[in-house]
Order: sequence, then structure tokens, then C-alpha cells
Amino acid sequence: MEPWNIFVEGDNLDVLPAVRDRWGAVDLIYIDPPYNTGNDFAYRDDIRGSDGTSRHQAWVAMMRPRLEAARAALAESGAIFVSIDDNEQAHLRLLLDEVFGEHSFVAQVVVNLNPKGRQLGRGFATSHEYLLVYARDAARTVLDASSAETVDERDFPLTTPDGRRYRHLPLRNTNKKFNPVTARTLHFTIWGDPETGRVSVEPFPGAVEVGPVFGDGSPAVWRWSRPLIAERPDDLVCRRIRGRSGQRVDVFQRDWLQRDVPGGRRKKLRTVWLAEEVGSTDTAVAELKAVVGHVFESPKPTGLLRRILATMPTDALVLDFFAGSGTTGHAVALQNLADGGTRRCISVNSAEPVRPGSNAAAAGLATVADITRARLQAVADTVGGGFEEVRL
Ligand SMILES: C[S@@+](CC[C@H](N)C(=O)[O-])C[C@H]1O[C@@H](n2cnc3c(N)ncnc32)[C@H](O)[C@@H]1O
Repeated sequence: MEPWNIFVEGDNLDVLPAVRDRWGAVDLIYIDPPYNTGNDFAYRDDIRGSDGTSRHQAWVAMMRPRLEAARAALAESGAIFVSIDDNEQAHLRLLLDEVFGEHSFVAQVVVNLNPKGRQLGRGFATSHEYLLVYARDAARTVLDASSAETVDERDFPLTTPDGRRYRHLPLRNTNKKFNPVTARTLHFTIWGDPETGRVSVEPFPGAVEVGPVFGDGSPAVWRWSRPLIAERPDDLVCRRIRGRSGQRVDVFQRDWLQRDVPGGRRKKLRTVWLAEEVGSTDTAVAELKAVVGHVFESPKPTGLLRRILATMPTDALVLDFFAGSGTTGHAVALQNLADGGTRRCISVNSAEPVRPGSNAAAAGLATVADITRARLQAVADTVGGGFEEVRL
């Protein structure tokens, strides 16, 4: 069996061009590049400041060839997720527009990684950073911006006698953009019996005529076509409701929780991800501590990566070429274990020396690559899936 985790030590600019030849096109790239916070960021072609360029320009110059190489490594159906904070968000967004094309932009997610907020310095207590998401090709990407995890069963308060959970959704389209002028074929009369709940496109004994109307009584349209209503009458129910203008009869869709369908019910992911959903920098430090020790200052939580992984197929080839403490590889193993997936993860990190006197140095880990390697080995030992180091 191919190992779930692979590690390559080296400057990602050297490694990236070889990835596709060795493992094939990559489906998903996640990176968390150095944030340019005023501390040095490590890269081979040290152009920083040498010709008077600003820190931002130097950072962009470091990132551009790496993002170009990343795009070349991605499958046509692939996508890239990049973590970034306010220092470089604006520059990174424009750079990604340039390299991937504006039309490939998928989302800018706000990730609430520091729920308490940064207490140091003046100004706001910043409590979030960003995740920029781009497809390799928006028309062909397999990225599914939804998750089974975020479905809240409490949103489905009703239960059938045989125990199936559901909720009522108005069959009427509540978006005012859709009305008898813009969607003429969806404005028609149906029949329903509020005593039995039965709904039909044809009249039947006991039924009353029901037309789609907004709360203020103005004409609306249905969300379902006449043939769809005829085909699925059991998923509809006629009820008496109390509206703004008194009691009236309306038709609702029974929207099933559908726990038993393959893959389960999925819910669209919002663009704000809370620490209570994906973890925080603090929980990430604790996760790292549990496997190798407190040897890296700013790891990402595996929950963040697992949510990203869940947007792509379960056999995705994943690449993280700023791997740091190896969170992406850890998340891949956890996610495979949880859903039976066969994802594989290639982690790349340079042999950047750790700070003298740091916890990592005290633990005998001389470089960041040593930290990545130590975590991925520990993950293979505790979670499973194997680990292989490759020299390119
Ligand atoms: C912000 S950290 C990534 C942290 C990671 N997401 C985690 O959860 O631990 C960025 C990493 O990129 C590495 N790095 C910086 N420049 C690099 C380069 N040119 N090639 C490979 N790795 C590099 C640094 O050593 C650092 O570990």
C-alpha cells in the first residue's frame, strides 16, 4: 500500500517542478506561507531589500514563482487553499488573481483562529485570518464547498412516525428576484388539503386551490416545476398557517435530513469558520504537543485542514509545500481513518534552522524539516497509514 504521508526536505522552488513527474497531478494544495510579520522569512533567492524593494514586493517576488510552480503541479480539476493574515492578504489576493486568473477565485474565508483576539499592541484585538481559495479551472474543479460535518440535526425538528427527521421549507420561492415576470412557468395553481396534508397538481375531493404568494399577498412563484410536484407529492405537505394577513393555506416541502443516503446530507460551507468548528492556534499547539511536543509556535489546527480536505474527493493527492509542523499530513491521516479515504499527502519543508534556545532545539530538532519529519513519523505510529521520506 502507498503510504498516506510522504515528506520531501528542500526548498519548495526546487521540489515543486518534480512533484508531477514523480506522483502525478495534485488534486489539492494547502499552504500556509511565512506571513512576513517583520521577522525573516526563509527562501533561497534572498532578494529582500537588496534593490530597495519593499518587504511586500520581496514577499510577492518570493511567492510568485512558487505559486506558478504550484499551478503547474495541480490537476485541471484541482484547487488551492492558502492561509494568510492581514500583512499580505491584499498582495496575495492580487498575486493569485494574476497566477490563477480572477475567474478562478472561489472564496476568501475568514478563519477565527484566535477567538480571544490578539491582546498585544494597540488597535483591534485581531481574532481571524484568511483562507484564499482558487480553482485551477473554475469550470472543471471537483471542489464541493460543502461539508457533512456542518449539518445541524437540530435544524430538522420534525419526525415521521417511522423516525425520519425533516423540516418544512416553503415551496414558494422566497427570493423576490423570482416572480411571475422573471419565472413565468413557475407561477401556477396547485391543489392541497390542509386536513390530510395531501398535495396534487390536479384537483381532488376536499382540496383547495393554492397559488404561490409572498407574505404581503403579492404573486410569487414555486421552487418546483409542475412535473416535479407531480412526481414527488409525498415530499410535499399542505398546511394551514397564520400569515401577516391572517390564516391561509400554503404548501411546504418536507426537507429530509437523509442521514441514511450514501455520503449523508451536506450543507454549504459559510465563509466564516469559527474556532469552535475548526479549532484555534491554541488547540493546534496542544495537538502538536500531544504527538511531538511544543516545538513549533504557529501550527494550524487539524480541524481546519480536515474541513478543507472534506471539500475534495476522498482519494485526493494533497500537497503542502510550506509544511511546517506537518499539520496537513496529520489531518490527512485522521480524515482517512475517519472516513475510509485513501488520500495521500506530500509535505515539503526546507531545512530552516530552528531558533537557538527554542523548545525544538532543546528537543534535539535542529531544523524545521526535523520537526515535520518527527510529527509525520509520530502520526504514522499512532494514527497509521505509513510514512516515507523521499529525496528528489
Ligand atoms: C507558517 S509555517 C507553516 C506552518 C504549518 N501550516 C503548520 O501547521 O505547522 C511556514 C513554513 O514554511 C517553511 N518554509 C519557508 N520557506 C520555505 C521554502 N522556500 N521551502 C520550503 N519551506 C519553506 C518554514 O520553514 C515554515 O515551517
